[in-house]
Amino acid sequence: SIPVPNVQYLSMNELKEIPSRYIHPKAETDRVSIDKSREIPVIDLQKLLHDQGGDQMASFHKACKDWGFFQLVNHGVEEGIIEKIKGDAEEFFRLPLEKKKAYAQQPGSVQGYGQAFVVSEEQKLEWCDLFGLRTFPIAERLTKVWPTSPLSFSETIERYVEELQKLTLCLLELVAKNLGVEADRLTNTCKQNGTQWFRINYYPPCPQADKVIGISPHSDASLITFLIQVNEVEGLQIKKNGTWVPVKPVPGAFIVNIGDAIEILSNGVYKSIEHRGTINPEKERMSIAVFQLPTSGILVGPFEEVLGDSGANYKTVDYDEYLKSYFATKLDGKRALDLVKLGEI
Ligand code: SIN
Ligand code: FE2
Repeated sequence: SIPVPNVQYLSMNELKEIPSRYIHPKAETDRVSIDKSREIPVIDLQKLLHDQGGDQMASFHKACKDWGFFQLVNHGVEEGIIEKIKGDAEEFFRLPLEKKKAYAQQPGSVQGYGQAFVVSEEQKLEWCDLFGLRTFPIAERLTKVWPTSPLSFSETIERYVEELQKLTLCLLELVAKNLGVEADRLTNTCKQNGTQWFRINYYPPCPQADKVIGISPHSDASLITFLIQVNEVEGLQIKKNGTWVPVKPVPGAFIVNIGDAIEILSNGVYKSIEHRGTINPEKERMSIAVFQLPTSGILVGPFEEVLGDSGANYKTVDYDEYLKSYFATKLDGKRALDLVKLGEI
């Protein structure tokens, strides 16, 4: 990606007027359609795993089908690991710029500290700094951008992403069951050497919060994504029936969403929902996302078992090509997925 200024440092200068590259003309009007009356479903993993009458699995199916987003509680990941990753992430972002720059993204890479989705000199920019790592397969790790400050950070990341890899397989088995597909058919898309990304999103406060965008509306290019919010500052909104629904994180829960790959594999039974990150005028906000992607080199197309009478709604794609197209432009709703429907990827 193209180097751009760090918004964390822009925000420290107590600017009255922020640079025009960060002003999004649509940001203000978009705010009109916020629906605070609804909440994404909560799914209890322990109940789901010990489901007696099928009610839990039915609610899980409904959550995936009607929302594409849910909060996962009783997920079995130790609270200590989650608290540790939050603390280390906060400490990392508090390091002076020079220290963080030791982990700066190299040109053309999104691993390390910097920004994502910067593809041109002209485009509007997002009010967000990122720290990203490809965490699986292990052979693909770019170890020189794995932080040594705070000292425990790399080890914490490692423990955290391993836990999420296990949780991913557990959830994918349940998703497969609900779709009427053999569990292996879904887990094999990522079981050996599946790609996993770890990303910290850092949104500094902004004096003109209503004119900027933290992360533009997009759907995730993953199979499944796990998000935690680091402090109490909220900002994630998801699109539901043409309105933006703010997510109120349940303490200790993972915010989980279905990504583009499952939308394709399920032939659209489950949808990868558009969402965005908004900014708080006074407080910094941070979130940590883990994205599970299919194994590099595989083809992704609708499972035969889910095809209705009208057949496949999506063409089968080489997922590496899909990702190229996804990252070639700025985040833009479900643009890449629409191209799959049209057979243009
Ligand atoms: C994202 O979609 O990756 C950002 C979500 C958030 O920060 O809440
Ligand atoms: Fe996202």
